[in-house]
Amino acid sequence: MSALTDRFGRVHDYLRISVTDRCNLRCLYCMPEEGVKFEPAENLLSYDQIAQVVRAGAELGISKLRITGGEPLVRPGLPDLVRELASIPGIRDISLTTNGVLLADQAEALRAAGLRRVNISLDTLDPARFRFIARRGDLQRVLQGIEAAAEAGFSPIKLNCVLLKGINEDEIAAFLEMAVKRPLHVRFIEYMPIGHADDNWRNHYLPLSRVLEIAKQNNLEAEPMTNVLGNGPSEDFRIKGGAGTFGLIHPISDQFCARCNRLRLTADGNLQPCLYWVDELNVKSALGSPEALEQLFLRALDMKPRNHEMAAKLADEALTHEPTARRMSQIGG
Ligand code: GTP
Ligand code: 5AD
Ligand code: SF4
Repeated sequence: MSALTDRFGRVHDYLRISVTDRCNLRCLYCMPEEGVKFEPAENLLSYDQIAQVVRAGAELGISKLRITGGEPLVRPGLPDLVRELASIPGIRDISLTTNGVLLADQAEALRAAGLRRVNISLDTLDPARFRFIARRGDLQRVLQGIEAAAEAGFSPIKLNCVLLKGINEDEIAAFLEMAVKRPLHVRFIEYMPIGHADDNWRNHYLPLSRVLEIAKQNNLEAEPMTNVLGNGPSEDFRIKGGAGTFGLIHPISDQFCARCNRLRLTADGNLQPCLYWVDELNVKSALGSPEALEQLFLRALDMKPRNHEMAAKLADEALTHEPTARRMSQIGG
């Protein structure tokens, strides 16, 4: 049995590592327009400290890593971290989740350092709407980032589209069309209530059954598939006759916690067992001791709940446990 098996029999082999809580966008589902109070640089784990934590995790069975933020590419020297992580025995998949704005400049160097895959946020194909959702930046840069990722040889390239009722749901057909025409993996994601004003979330939450309805209306035949390379919760489909594929990430309408395989490390050094749970453990006092770090992994696993309670929150029912007070940008998604 893997050392990282939790109380519910789930084996953990995937660590999501946030390298910064800062971001060059202000997406309305993630951060308020004015931003949040960012961690001072001295509170962040250094790359060497992150590597120490990963070494301890790898001893226990972590083999897949994802680098997240905030926006990870705003932290200088990310290829150095990738190189260091890629050299750790037992690590066999390193990937990145990014908003894509800075990707065109860094894709080659990241690939050369050992990064294997990239997931890029793309919530709209309309430049004006991009400004409305992201409040900063511009769509063109993101599209250039996607092209640069393809040229650098990343595969598969996944696009992450958070569906927002009344904001971008009219683009579902266009995103599906993109998956028909291009060899991309387009993923639709349910809007989650992480660190959020409840009204905004309730007003804009959209269950992903809508995507399958729209596929049908557009005469697209979607067939379940299992062989898209990935470690996360996406339920994947091929489209008959299509060059690409699509995926659904539906934490609320169809919970996937029974298959959970992941832990999170925040940029300020907290091991977080679950995205929607307040409990976390700080690793800083254990740095320098591989044994103490391994103990923290095991303790984090002991604190992990069976499942999150986002659906109860949607129904306005009492929760059994506090959700995290962190925002998505302070966790890493
Ligand atoms: P792959 O390895 O490519 O499958 O990556 P991934 O889907 O794990 O990573 P990504 O960062 O692209 O995450 C996509 C979406 O899934 C984001 O909105 C995440 O917040 C969400 N997500 C990932 N893991 C979990 C999870 O454990 N619980 C919940 N509720 N959402 C998650
Ligand atoms: N709900 C769902 N997905 C979110 N993301 C950020 N905030 C939310 C939220 N509240 C997504 C980003 C990115 C990934 C890491 O998480 O769009 O693709
Ligand atoms: Fe795992 Fe928590 Fe995500 Fe559920 S919400 S899949 S338990 S991290």
